[in-house]
Amino acid sequence: FSQFDLVIVGAGFFGATIAERAAKTLGKKVLIIDRRDHIGGNAYSENDKETGIEVHRYGAHLFHTPNKLVWDYLANFTTFTSYQHRVFASHRNSVYSMPINLGTICQFFGRQFTPDEARALVASQAQELGGKEPDNLEEKAISLIGRPLYDAFIRGYTAKQWQTDPTALPASIITRLPVRYNFNNRYFSDAYEGLPTDGYTAIFDKMLEHRNIEVSLGIDYFAVKNAIPADKLVVFTGPIDRYFDYRAGELNWRTIDFEKEVLPVGDFQGTAVMNYSDEAVPYTRILEFRHFNPERQYPDDKTVIVREYSRFAGRDDEPYYPIDTSDDKKTYQAYKKLAEAETNVIFGGRLGTYRYLDMHQAIAAAIKTFETDITPRLSQS
Ligand code: FDA
Repeated sequence: FSQFDLVIVGAGFFGATIAERAAKTLGKKVLIIDRRDHIGGNAYSENDKETGIEVHRYGAHLFHTPNKLVWDYLANFTTFTSYQHRVFASHRNSVYSMPINLGTICQFFGRQFTPDEARALVASQAQELGGKEPDNLEEKAISLIGRPLYDAFIRGYTAKQWQTDPTALPASIITRLPVRYNFNNRYFSDAYEGLPTDGYTAIFDKMLEHRNIEVSLGIDYFAVKNAIPADKLVVFTGPIDRYFDYRAGELNWRTIDFEKEVLPVGDFQGTAVMNYSDEAVPYTRILEFRHFNPERQYPDDKTVIVREYSRFAGRDDEPYYPIDTSDDKKTYQAYKKLAEAETNVIFGGRLGTYRYLDMHQAIAAAIKTFETDITPRLSQS
């Protein structure tokens, strides 16, 4: 370790961005390790062996950002396709477009509405609680969009996501439920959107391809920690509670079980993401990966689908979404204090800061950390 100026734990977007910046703009020698056998963190993708279809191993990753700085930064490593994300939801054998928009409302209530009529309808249905303060997620959702739309599109999906009846979930989980009173059914409204032309992993290959960067895979930080000199600057993007041996308690996460299947049909569902909002269907959604890349030549007699099942994460599961209850917030604050005392370690990324970050947010956070925290320290050495 002594030959490196910087050791980075985790080769996801946060770690890779810092590695690239330190090597390229400061000419520093960087070691980046990951306990997995691949780079890319959760954005990693691979081509399915049987079909050649690019599959995102840790769930669908759609790139979108309002941030020109991040978009321009990534242009150093990839171009983007013109993919625009759209999501549909299956409910009682009908298919609706999501998020709830005027098209969804017209179809669901079985007639044409003007935007103002639809607004008035939803507003009147949202009056059901008569101004009573919502006690739980169900009441909160009804106060936002009314019971009929809630029952059809939110209730079952939320119950499956949380393995908990929405009447037993805190109202604070949702602050708003987007309803669009026009026919715009694009999922994202950011200025920049697309999928990397050569896939996600190719971005990381390019970012880390530098003579000053050494990548070591299959290495767990905790197995090598004692061999790292105490004064070495370390960027840690693993779970912050694990770093401190859970001494302030465990942070809670939800995870997803992915059930992948290759089917002998050219097209299974006609779109990339189909949500299943009814509770009777055990999975939350089905991804069909070929639809992310309609510009590619894929086999016309085979397709790859992945069913997603959501549940609470145990210590050995992949942590995906922070649950962030008020107890979790307190626990994280305790770790943040401990982290501040760890002068040669910088905690970052979604696991290191216990925050859900989209890819563009992880990259933006890494650029900022690099500029404000890492550059001044490495420039001294
Ligand atoms: P990331 O988790 O990618 O990397 C951390 C790395 O640290 C991992 O590779 C891990 O193995 C490694 N590590 C941890 N502990 C270690 C140890 N002890 N020793 C060595 N290595 C260790 N975003 C978006 O913009 N659009 C989208 O559509 C989606 N979709 C999506 C779906 C799902 C299911 C999830 C969970 C997340 C998304 N995201 C997303 C978010 C996206 O995955 C996220 O922004 C990035 O992964 C963040 O990058 P990080 O580098 O912070 O973490």
